[in-house]
Amino acid sequence: MIRAKRDGMALREEDLRGFVAGMVDGSIGEAQVAALGMAIYFQGMGSKECAALTSAMAHSGAVLEWDLDGPVLDKHSSGGVGDLVSLALGPMVAACGAYVPMISGRGLGHTGGTLDKLESIPGYRTMPGRDEFRRAVRRAGVAIIGQTDDLAPADRMFYAVRDVTATVESIPLITASILSKKLAAGLDGLVMDIKTGSGAFMVTSDQARQLAESIVSVAAGAGLPTAALITCMDEPLAPCAGNALEVREAVRYLTGTKRDPRLHQVVLALGMRLLILGGLAADEDGARAMLEQTLDSGAAAERFLRMVTELGGPPDFVEHFDAYLPAARSTWPVRAQTEGFLAAWDTRALGMAVVALGGGRTRVGQGVDHTVGLTSIARVGTEVRVGDVLAVLHCASDEEGGGASGRAARAAVLDAVRLGLEPSAPGPLIRELIT
Ligand code: URA
Repeated sequence: MIRAKRDGMALREEDLRGFVAGMVDGSIGEAQVAALGMAIYFQGMGSKECAALTSAMAHSGAVLEWDLDGPVLDKHSSGGVGDLVSLALGPMVAACGAYVPMISGRGLGHTGGTLDKLESIPGYRTMPGRDEFRRAVRRAGVAIIGQTDDLAPADRMFYAVRDVTATVESIPLITASILSKKLAAGLDGLVMDIKTGSGAFMVTSDQARQLAESIVSVAAGAGLPTAALITCMDEPLAPCAGNALEVREAVRYLTGTKRDPRLHQVVLALGMRLLILGGLAADEDGARAMLEQTLDSGAAAERFLRMVTELGGPPDFVEHFDAYLPAARSTWPVRAQTEGFLAAWDTRALGMAVVALGGGRTRVGQGVDHTVGLTSIARVGTEVRVGDVLAVLHCASDEEGGGASGRAARAAVLDAVRLGLEPSAPGPLIRELIT
């Protein structure tokens, strides 16, 4: 199969099923998975092949069925930096009457992973047993967990290998990875956030559109109604990136103590689609009002807390999140060395700076440091003077400058900023809707 794909041939459905079974039973090792991944990366897959790979991966473990008094909905992102939408939107949609069994991933390449973020909450179990997961979804309306042994296990292995072998940016592999988890979760509707721009796997709008169309059509073929929004990742979505740092931002968002406007815009846009898809709202205005009400009334924050406690976290987490979340050993501002107007960020480089600080992985199975990352990332359009803070580094070391990794991250941030002479406004955040 590796040779066939390397040489540009289409793979047969039964062979793909066999390969996926081999990944799960261990008879096919990481080297072969990596080689097939790279062959697919270069040669691509036809739509039937991609649908067959998706289906084999979705059925590599259990497929959940639900018997609940509301629609079973979910949102998934193709991966970004400072993208904590899932942490905010899951509880909001649950508070509107849906059930959200969200199977999420770990950081991938330069992007953050919702599971890594949630594991910064003491006691939170991202790998509960199936009964515990079902109970959490029923009681809290939302449970964000990882691929447990029995849910899309093939994706878990493929994902870990792709993370460290430069085989992430492939439309069929991303389609199969995302949809295998979503089909295994037994959803009634899905909304996809397909990122485009410097911090996305699909950098250009054309690539993002192709990925959105691939996901929407493979999902429809598998009986899962799906809509996709293409959103801009030319700067981090929230002004921070890093595991515990993003959980902190999510709690502030839910409780209203700090609500970043860009993050809010994407949360609402995805949430509106989801409520319409699930039949909970008739139109965008109605959906927006419902979502805002979950924030104003505290219902979304309450759902978030219920999810945390159902999955083993502290019962007073929302009230005392600052005390519970681990903090970095030292923080260091990165200051502008020239003046100008912030025209753009190389967002991928910012994500890699977080990885360099220890917040992501460079080897399969590596642990991550939940404390590190970036905050106060300056927004595109800001006027910058020499000495202004472009971002604050949160470092694992308390040596001067955060030690070697802190100094490397500082250099990466300075390298990632694009300053122009003229004021420039950021481009549109929400680019397209694909249904
Ligand atoms: N998210 C996933 O779950 N899989 C990918 O391949 C990319 C983003």
